[in-house]
Amino acid sequence: MPENPLIFDTHAHYDDKAFDEDRHEVIESLPSQKVCGVVNAASNLESSRAGIELAERYPFIWAAAGVHPQEVSNTPENTIEILRGMLVHPRVVALGEIGLDYHYDTPPRDVQLDWFERQLRLAAELDKPVIIHDREAHEDTMRLLRKYRPRGVLHCFSGSPQLAEQVLELGMYIGLGGTVTFKNAKKPVEVAAMLPLDRLVLETDAPYMSPVPFRGKRCHSGLIAYTAERIAEIRGISVEELLSQTCDNACRIYGIAL
Ligand code: NI
Repeated sequence: MPENPLIFDTHAHYDDKAFDEDRHEVIESLPSQKVCGVVNAASNLESSRAGIELAERYPFIWAAAGVHPQEVSNTPENTIEILRGMLVHPRVVALGEIGLDYHYDTPPRDVQLDWFERQLRLAAELDKPVIIHDREAHEDTMRLLRKYRPRGVLHCFSGSPQLAEQVLELGMYIGLGGTVTFKNAKKPVEVAAMLPLDRLVLETDAPYMSPVPFRGKRCHSGLIAYTAERIAEIRGISVEELLSQTCDNACRIYGIAL
């Protein structure tokens, strides 16, 4: 295990049912693994509420509230009003995760686009950062990001260095996680090498996306140590420098003072 002074996990799902058996045990173990901050990303309204409860209970957890593209067909018509109420909570630091997922045919793209735009408008209205999910939908995602110009993070970035350049031009940050450690990783490795250090944040997407050597197992924020080790190696810098800079970046994006 590498020395890991400060781990900030900008994207985890501790409300996920994968943690139902031992959620509090897992979360309470994080500070001893040098985790100093976690943003719990929501997938729907219920998960937004659950994230807020975690953020109220643990001083090192902050919540995002929002509806994931795979969940939008089940969300009530007054979702934006409900989210507007949640986003004034002092522990809610972002709107997310929101975006587009074209990997599956459902929900239909027009429904996803509609809810993505509604949530981007809410982010603009409240001047809140966003956490963007873009799976196989780069073109439409970039089109709407150019239209609304939100602040925030492209999470689990899967695009090319060229696409990363376009994200940087918008002033946004890029989140990298366990995929950089995968044997067949190509684009995430190229992106990890080219990003300016002040635009990179680390994430798990726990319980998913565990880095090697835990690939396929349940993930938690402490495992960022392995992702960080790989990115530091790719960039030729120390793990300490990477963790410290990415932690600063996360605090800047979300307006968090540690
Ligand atoms: Ni996620």
